[in-house]
Amino acid sequence: MLRAVSDTHDWPQADGRTLHLLRGARRSDGLRAWDAADGVLAEHDEDADLLVGDRWGALVCALGRPVPVWSDHAASWYDIRGNQDRNDHTRSPISAELPDGPHKRVLMRIPRATERLDDWLTALAAQVPEGGTLAAAGMAQHVPRQARQRVEALFGPVHHSRGHGKARLILATRDHRTPEPVPLRRWLWPETEWPVLNAPGVFSGGSPDPGTRTLLSHLPPLRGTVLDLGCGNGVLGLAAAHRNEDVDVVFVDSDMAAIRSARATWDASGLTHPVQFFHRDVLSGLKDPVDVVLCNPPFHEGGAQTSAIAARMFAAAASVLTDNGVLAVVANRHLGHDVRLGRHFDDVQPVSRHPRFVVLHARGPRRR
Ligand SMILES: C[S@@+](CC[C@H](N)C(=O)[O-])C[C@H]1O[C@@H](n2cnc3c(N)ncnc32)[C@H](O)[C@@H]1O
Repeated sequence: MLRAVSDTHDWPQADGRTLHLLRGARRSDGLRAWDAADGVLAEHDEDADLLVGDRWGALVCALGRPVPVWSDHAASWYDIRGNQDRNDHTRSPISAELPDGPHKRVLMRIPRATERLDDWLTALAAQVPEGGTLAAAGMAQHVPRQARQRVEALFGPVHHSRGHGKARLILATRDHRTPEPVPLRRWLWPETEWPVLNAPGVFSGGSPDPGTRTLLSHLPPLRGTVLDLGCGNGVLGLAAAHRNEDVDVVFVDSDMAAIRSARATWDASGLTHPVQFFHRDVLSGLKDPVDVVLCNPPFHEGGAQTSAIAARMFAAAASVLTDNGVLAVVANRHLGHDVRLGRHFDDVQPVSRHPRFVVLHARGPRRR
């Protein structure tokens, strides 16, 4: 649902327009939907024909026309459309995979992870013809240190790489070289030696996350349909299947690269349980009942700490769990997720004694 204009922040434009923007079309965390890097990129528009990584839709709104957007993050689709509607702009086509080119003028928000930057640049190199241009920007504190070198190596010569206030802008022209796509990283889960595959920039690529491990030591009884919510590389759903040959497994993540990873992890396992993969913002559009939800929720987004996504995950889990179902969550103790879970479940129990992480089992879903 769109929020009232009074919940938005106003972003005045050099041409006299004022944009009304909301960060998070499905919730409000009070943060602004744009930053200086969006402003710098908008100034370098030069008839851009593709936007990459426009998380909240501020950039496309600043351009004021329905430029196609490539965003691998399903949650951003609602934000982009919400902000375009709010400003009476025509909606952009948005896709989770890079649309076929040729794209001659690309504007890109630089991702924080160097691996993800490499992934995007190699994909772009295949769709931007020689002589095409890239304007890439991010907030200086979040731009990977090697960003200029990565652009030079994977896209083409850089002719501008400087700070603009708090933002950093890199301008480059595509050359003829064709870089190899970045492969998924394959590693072995300790103790069990399960192969795990991570696409670039997907959570815990190469070593196990201590939170995930803690949850794996305190899994609830597994039966029926097990949902791995915010699956990343899919190791929670994989473990559920290894421990019970009768479960079905559903993997959901808003990041397309995570879905690719979970699918690759599953394929490498040789397991034959019924399995489904969904690229979704939380559980949007998914309504089939499930018996168990496993969740290691994110606690930051776009550089800012937030519990808003976890809160939406808990509400969504309560809405799909059967009456006897259970949600198992792991989180840093200080986040206080027991209180958030208590809003949607009758019974919330801590089941671990780890000094840093708490595992909570929530039962008795209350439907709204
Ligand atoms: C802390 S990681 C956990 C990954 C994996 N379950 C594990 O334990 O290794 C959180 C995951 O939630 C996903 N995520 C973030 N926002 C989401 C959203 N709005 N909807 C669905 N998944 C989301 C992230 O892409 C990430 O893969």
